[in-house]
Amino acid sequence: MHRSHHCAQLTPIDLGATVSLLGWVDSIRDHGGILFIDLRDRKGITQVMFDPKANAAVGEQAAHLKPESVIGIRGKVVARPEGTTNAALPTGGIEVEATELTIHNISDTPPFPLDDVGGDKVNEDLRLTYRYLDLRRPKMRKNLQVRHKAAKSIRDYFDAQEFIEVETPALFKSTPEGAREYLVPSRIHAGQFYALSQSPQQFKQILMVAGVEKYFQIARCFRDEDLRSDRQMEFTQVDVEASFVTREDIYALFEGMLKKLWQDVLGAEIQTPFLRMPFHDAMNRFGVDKPDVRFGLELVDFTELFKTSGFKVFASTATGGGAIKAINAKGLADLTQGELKALEEIAKSLGAKGLAFIKVEGGEWKSPIVKFFSEAEKAALTARLGVGEGDMIFFAAAPWEKACAILGRIRLEAAQLLVKRGKLTIRHDDWKFLWVVDFPLMSHDEAENRYVATHHPFTAPVAEDAAYLDSDPKKVRGQHYDVVLNGMELGGGSIRIHNPAMQKKIFEDVLKIPADVVESRFGYMLKAFTYGAPPHGGIAFGLDRMCALLCGTTSIRDVIAFPKTQKGQDLMAQSPTPVTAKQLKELHIATVMPE
Ligand code: AMO
Ligand code: AMP
Repeated sequence: MHRSHHCAQLTPIDLGATVSLLGWVDSIRDHGGILFIDLRDRKGITQVMFDPKANAAVGEQAAHLKPESVIGIRGKVVARPEGTTNAALPTGGIEVEATELTIHNISDTPPFPLDDVGGDKVNEDLRLTYRYLDLRRPKMRKNLQVRHKAAKSIRDYFDAQEFIEVETPALFKSTPEGAREYLVPSRIHAGQFYALSQSPQQFKQILMVAGVEKYFQIARCFRDEDLRSDRQMEFTQVDVEASFVTREDIYALFEGMLKKLWQDVLGAEIQTPFLRMPFHDAMNRFGVDKPDVRFGLELVDFTELFKTSGFKVFASTATGGGAIKAINAKGLADLTQGELKALEEIAKSLGAKGLAFIKVEGGEWKSPIVKFFSEAEKAALTARLGVGEGDMIFFAAAPWEKACAILGRIRLEAAQLLVKRGKLTIRHDDWKFLWVVDFPLMSHDEAENRYVATHHPFTAPVAEDAAYLDSDPKKVRGQHYDVVLNGMELGGGSIRIHNPAMQKKIFEDVLKIPADVVESRFGYMLKAFTYGAPPHGGIAFGLDRMCALLCGTTSIRDVIAFPKTQKGQDLMAQSPTPVTAKQLKELHIATVMPE
């Protein structure tokens, strides 16, 4: 049996037609022997009626059906009786009187409800174990469609801009300075390994040397990182590189891509050009390098004010080179003891010594520390934080970056508490894109006591800062940019180094990678750069994260057909698994189990 129509197609226009439909039994209702079955396919639902009085054989067959069974039916389109039409369904005005039924497969009872509301309440591990059932839910089906549409929009955009899609290897070599890699043992070369590509970074730069000029790829990347709601071990990048471009060119190119994408997928108009925010401002005002600017609660700096304070904790931090930052969680004075404790724990987990606060209730400042504050200090706090009745002020005193990070996190938590109370509205479709720019090229790794690249070691320094590379690398800004949407880092990139001497200097003199390691790991790239490397730059976007935002979900697992769990497992196919001794031997591998 072939289908004549899909399950969202038939309307009163088709009354009297003989049709055939294929799909899954969504639900069965028995009205005194007459069975009403909602038949579902990927497009929608059509009601099918089995009346044993009209057709005894088919009625008898239908009595065996169970939800989620796969069937084909033939029958006549009839009007639904007065009062039984369903305006919410495109097919709600009709039903099909079945005259023929083919049963392809009777389903066992699914382990969880397959509607959106029921399915959302189910433990995610169960959904992942039965992912083929989970993906039948309307919401998950829609997510897969959004992802397809997004990828198509992106390909069309770059094609129109004369970019070409080039595939690059997943099996690459191990190179230091990135995320932890997955290693793949070589059978042919005993004791040697490939590494799964963390990103096509080096290949796309080589493609610029090869004269491709405009490259893009929807590329699978692999990183052995701790997994979170916005991180998977394998994920997908929209990866781009172009020759003879400046930062401005990349901003315009990507703003165009995102504008079209939001238009194509959501029909939404986003504002361009995006706001640009230097990294220092992002930290200082929002306490993160990926600020959510849909709401205020900005960090305010009181370092100067507290230098001479009677509150010694603040005074000593302020005079000792640290910073005193505060936020006003407007209207959060009704915070419970439990909520306050939880915030303190979060602050401590980020290295805070405490989370000083002032609660403004009944015209009074309730706080263990306010007795140390002078009238002038109180006046300055009131003015700059806009303190009013019902407010809750939080403080962090620590080295600048730590103080910012602590309050940045408290800001997000406080916002959620305000949302819960209906005192703050944060809309998921309030699209606040911004570029974070002027990152430091290098950050100092305390544990290793050396500099590491903030983005990656191929990022070019800002030309006028390059003079400080030897004397004070911290001062050098990189030509690096991140694009941020509503608190999520969507993508990042940079203008690259294309001069082999400069690249060698960064590896050896600044990052202190031994010359022989540079040669064995990056020698091929340095060599390529000696044969006419054009100036070039690019960016990569997390497709999974972008789709999560487009679908209004916070977990990228919801937009990946077969994601891994937080513990890196595929619960459906059951991986990872041990392998046979024979397989290991062939790969020249012996395993040593942890104690
Ligand atoms: P970066 O490492 O910043 O840059 O990655 C770019 C974007 O990829 C996404 N992303 C991830 N998404 C899901 N799971 C992960 N584990 C994960 N890791 C990264 C993020 C991130 O912004 N080669 C450079 C880009 C360049 O310089 O052109 C790179 O990979 O959305
Ligand atoms: P103490 O004098 O240690 O009792 O601290 C008084 C208050 O200040 C307590 O509420 C602490 O949580 C808080 N506090 C202490 N150190 C800091 C700090 N570095 N930053 C913010 N608050 C702090």
